[in-house]
Amino acid sequence: MFDLKIKNNRVTCRPGETVLDALLRENINIPYGCKAGACQSCVVQSLDAKPPAKAQGGLKDTLKSSGHFLACQCHPEQPMTLKLSKEAASFVDGRVAVNEPLNRNTQLLIIDINDADRYRAGQFVNLQRSDGLTRSYSIANIPHASGTLEFHIRRLPGGRFSTWVHEELKVGDSIPVSEPQGHCFYLPDRKEQGLLLIGTGTGLAPLAGILADALSHGHSGPIRLFHGSREHEDLYRVNEMRELAEHHPNFSYTPCISSGDAPEGFTQGRVHDAALSAQADLVSWRVFLCGHPDMVKSAQKQAYLKGARLADIYCDAFVVSAEQAPSA
Ligand code: FES
Repeated sequence: MFDLKIKNNRVTCRPGETVLDALLRENINIPYGCKAGACQSCVVQSLDAKPPAKAQGGLKDTLKSSGHFLACQCHPEQPMTLKLSKEAASFVDGRVAVNEPLNRNTQLLIIDINDADRYRAGQFVNLQRSDGLTRSYSIANIPHASGTLEFHIRRLPGGRFSTWVHEELKVGDSIPVSEPQGHCFYLPDRKEQGLLLIGTGTGLAPLAGILADALSHGHSGPIRLFHGSREHEDLYRVNEMRELAEHHPNFSYTPCISSGDAPEGFTQGRVHDAALSAQADLVSWRVFLCGHPDMVKSAQKQAYLKGARLADIYCDAFVVSAEQAPSA
């Protein structure tokens, strides 16, 4: 057991407990999202003790060197004096421009933002409610082209943040948006390279952004997008993707349904099975995998076995917070 000092409070971190759990137990208001080390919304700073290495995994070197760490990944090894670090999260205020349905359970959220040039299609940001509740969402558009950030918000069972977006967040509302994070985006360095994009559910969001970015840069290699869900009602932007495929001969689009009979024009089966069985090999291809963690993990392995370099496989697994069930 180690003591955590934070402002005027002293909290004892019990054996097996993370710093995040200890602070929440004592009702200390700390932002958090996934509780899995992925969203970085729970970053705090140690003012004295060096945090365990595992608790600093994935942070920028600048943050590590100043004692920042992920509270949800930290089992203290000595007493610590902590500072809740709003600066580390670096939020700016955006304004809701559009909040409307994309399908029966997914909302299109568009936020006006200053300095849109800082953000890239396919990266993710943290969005925050006024009480500190924070969730990560991927950018589905090319931000600098419109001065906006576009997100696809699926309503999750028991999901406090997604339910709030679906039911309460209004056009004109202000919403804090973090700095961009993640490395799942398009670089226009090898335009002749094949791009394989595989996503489940709202995994289409980063892939749609990456696709738009690649097309805007005149990507000349083949671009193949496979988007899957259990039922066809949970897919979206089907017609838009089909139209894009009509206008860009190097782009193909395959919507996949994993449960029940697939209607005409849809492929039956799991999306990564359909995508990877259609490829003889992936030597010199770039692969983007976004959505359900099981799909991302399995497809990453299969893509590697088909010849893609690990450095050319970009993964964005949608880890959800402990209170939510995984989305399709
Ligand atoms: S990284 Fe700690 S809550 Fe997401």
